[in-house]
Amino acid sequence: MNRGHDRKFLWGVATSAFQLEGSPYADWASWDSVLKSRPDVTNHYTLYREDLNLLKELGVNAYRFSLEWSRIQPEESQWDEKSITRYQDIINILLENSIEPMVTLHHFTHPLWFIKGYPWHEDASVEKFLRYVEKITETIKGVKYWITFNEPYVLLLGGYLEGCMPPGIKDASLAIRALKNILSCHGRAYDIIHSRIPDAMVSIAHNMAALTPWRRWNPLDRLLSKIAKYFYNHSIIDAFITGRLSIKFPFKKVKEIEVQIKDKLDFFGVNYYTRVHIRFNPFKKMCVELRHRDIDGYGLTDLGWEIHPQGLAKVLRYASRLNVPLIITENGIATHDNQKKIRFMKRHIDVLEKCIKEGIDVRGYFYWSLIDNYEWLQGLDARFGLYRVDFDTMERKPTCAAAYYSYIIKSRNF
Ligand code: BGC
Repeated sequence: MNRGHDRKFLWGVATSAFQLEGSPYADWASWDSVLKSRPDVTNHYTLYREDLNLLKELGVNAYRFSLEWSRIQPEESQWDEKSITRYQDIINILLENSIEPMVTLHHFTHPLWFIKGYPWHEDASVEKFLRYVEKITETIKGVKYWITFNEPYVLLLGGYLEGCMPPGIKDASLAIRALKNILSCHGRAYDIIHSRIPDAMVSIAHNMAALTPWRRWNPLDRLLSKIAKYFYNHSIIDAFITGRLSIKFPFKKVKEIEVQIKDKLDFFGVNYYTRVHIRFNPFKKMCVELRHRDIDGYGLTDLGWEIHPQGLAKVLRYASRLNVPLIITENGIATHDNQKKIRFMKRHIDVLEKCIKEGIDVRGYFYWSLIDNYEWLQGLDARFGLYRVDFDTMERKPTCAAAYYSYIIKSRNF
């Protein structure tokens, strides 16, 4: 592929393997009931060539997707070479069409053998994950952009604090051990990838939200929102700068841990969706209550999330402290209303344009998502896609939002 476009802005869409392909070997397969009754909704596994044609139709020059670890290593002692070849086929098709692949190694799901035997709070998890990274970097060719982990903090909140995602644990001290191991995997995966692909661009995709006090006048709301903002948005950024992760939960002592990730970053992936309002409530876990409110008048999404484009500027400004290029690795809206989807895109891309003019080094924007897909705990009704999927027939149809995104790509010159 001609990579003369290295300084060219990456306009892409993002997807994740499990949401489109499912996997009988993944922890989520036994966790969730939607996919048990409707395994056919993940037919991208067989239809990937047709779906990749949609990228050409859109005119994107980049595509972020993930590898489903549980398909590649369904048993600890077994590598499924066919599955690796299929991912290589996806990459080859992208390269033939001058579409830059960005590959995510871990997007929430795990092989069952891993999560049962070596969950993240066990130190043995690190070597198991790195073996997978070794295998991938030995076999997969043609990828420059790598995301080691998608949204480690979401995995941590869901899997270790709320318990709503596998491994379904609710324990803050195990959460911290898990985070330490995940970050250690990132640091070592960074080195493995660079040892094989010296000019690789490696990052994580970090979910950042605009976080604000529910009642500005209330000192406790302000305090909690400050703590939450630091933990959720900033602590990992500071850890990339200093090699130390500082964790503070409300009304607990600060915990400092060493993490070997200082400077192990070639760009920084930001996933941005919404703003969250935070209030002190003694009857809630950790005294924290979260809410979405339509303050700007742009409405809420079908998932009830506030549409707050200005928040994107805030999180980008903070992330720019890292002094590496930033890429918006996810931004999108769940809505049945395609005009609303267009307005969402336009408003966020306008904010992005201002940030770039202000001097923030943003090198790419990936809309989430290409087609409607399985949205984890929310099932099938969250319509993020530029292409509408009829879940009865599984037919994909372009929406006017797809046409609008193509127009944006052609007309905005960043
Ligand atoms: C995740 C996606 C998810 C999207 C919308 C992101 O946090 O990476 O897997 O579908 O948000 O909820």
